[in-house]
Amino acid sequence: MEAVGRDLQSGGLASGALILDVGTGAGYPALDLQARYPSLRVEALEAWEPAVARARDRGVAAFHGDLLTWSGGLYDAVVANVCLNVIDDRAAAARALARLLRPGGRLYATVTLRGTLRALDRAVERICSARNVLERMQAHRFTVVTLRAAFAGGAFADVAVDVGRFTLNYESGEAMATSAPIRMGYAHRYREIVGDSGWRRLIEVLDRERGIALDVPFALLTATRSP
Ligand SMILES: C[S@@+](CC[C@H](N)C(=O)[O-])C[C@H]1O[C@@H](n2cnc3c(N)ncnc32)[C@H](O)[C@@H]1O
Repeated sequence: MEAVGRDLQSGGLASGALILDVGTGAGYPALDLQARYPSLRVEALEAWEPAVARARDRGVAAFHGDLLTWSGGLYDAVVANVCLNVIDDRAAAARALARLLRPGGRLYATVTLRGTLRALDRAVERICSARNVLERMQAHRFTVVTLRAAFAGGAFADVAVDVGRFTLNYESGEAMATSAPIRMGYAHRYREIVGDSGWRRLIEVLDRERGIALDVPFALLTATRSP
């Protein structure tokens, strides 16, 4: 959001620009953009129909579609907040984003990086031997190098990557398991690895340990659509 604001101030994005929030989920990034920068015209795209309905209920102009195949329009800027993480074909995602941007249009994409929730991996390893699976899951996550590589080449110029980190602190295993980011973004993957009973055991272990602190390293990629 701040990167968008900086471009608006510097003239890199014009007042009145049309911006698409890809993978908007329930619409929060689109709503945040519109509230912060009322001069922008914000639309959104989301592949999961129930989320589209929720975003529309909140007043977001949301389209139902898959980034990889959608051909809805041409935008001055595209935002994608933790959406590229969940698309396996990264090269296809980069091509699709390029198709949606006019020449000179700006891309702002955040992704979580390798190392995300490592403390949860370590807690899992204490209750079962899943090290190899957990390592494969981490290996699949973006690094700064693989993120840059996905956007290298002709379609984008001025590719820049900034990194940051935040920590999700939970007082108990139950608080962690029922929190929105874990429930919606991660629990299903860990349940696949440890099973339902393993997941319950993990929660009990974390309850006894009085909670857990989960680091989330992330990156913001900004780029300009080449002419
Ligand atoms: C982790 S959520 C982030 C939601 C939202 N961006 C936010 O910050 O609150 C990722 C979202 O991307 C959507 N998504 C995943 N693949 C997509 C695709 N190929 N096209 C459009 N949306 C997609 C998911 O359905 C999900 O709502």
